[in-house]
Amino acid sequence: MQFHVGSDHGGVTLLDALIAEFEEWGGESGHAVLSRTGPAVATERVDYPSIAVEVCQRVLRDRARGAADVYGLLVCGTGQGVAMTANKIPGIRAGVVADGFSAQMARAHNDANVLCLGERVLGAGLAKLLLREFIEASFEGGRHANRVELIESLTRQHGEGS
Ligand code: RB5
Repeated sequence: MQFHVGSDHGGVTLLDALIAEFEEWGGESGHAVLSRTGPAVATERVDYPSIAVEVCQRVLRDRARGAADVYGLLVCGTGQGVAMTANKIPGIRAGVVADGFSAQMARAHNDANVLCLGERVLGAGLAKLLLREFIEASFEGGRHANRVELIESLTRQHGEGS
């Protein structure tokens, strides 16, 4: 899996730790960080919606070019703000998770294409485990595909960004 990643100031430290995890796995793992959006230091305050939008646009752009293996990873203080923002963007299904089962199910049942985590909620060890669960799960399709399609149909019914 390839990830566009980003954080606001509230997520810099955890995102650093997660990027280090990708580096530890190495290129042969097939998992990599494509780009990083957001501050490099926690003292640089930014607005999480702009970070989330930039990362999601990158994910959608790559997917539109056929790169189905491209996902987003967003970190803020709680994960909530980036997830709320990301889910306003048509085509993005972002899950904010704090337990392994939800990290798996976000992919298996909801076909999530963005993982959202909260630095002020999770320790780095748990966050790494959640990332791993998300990566190793796969969408089950079938009845879940119908439900995901129902989510996507909301954009058509209510207009973009509703
Ligand atoms: C920033 O202080 C904080 O509000 C942000 O990182 C995030 O937790 C919002 O959802």
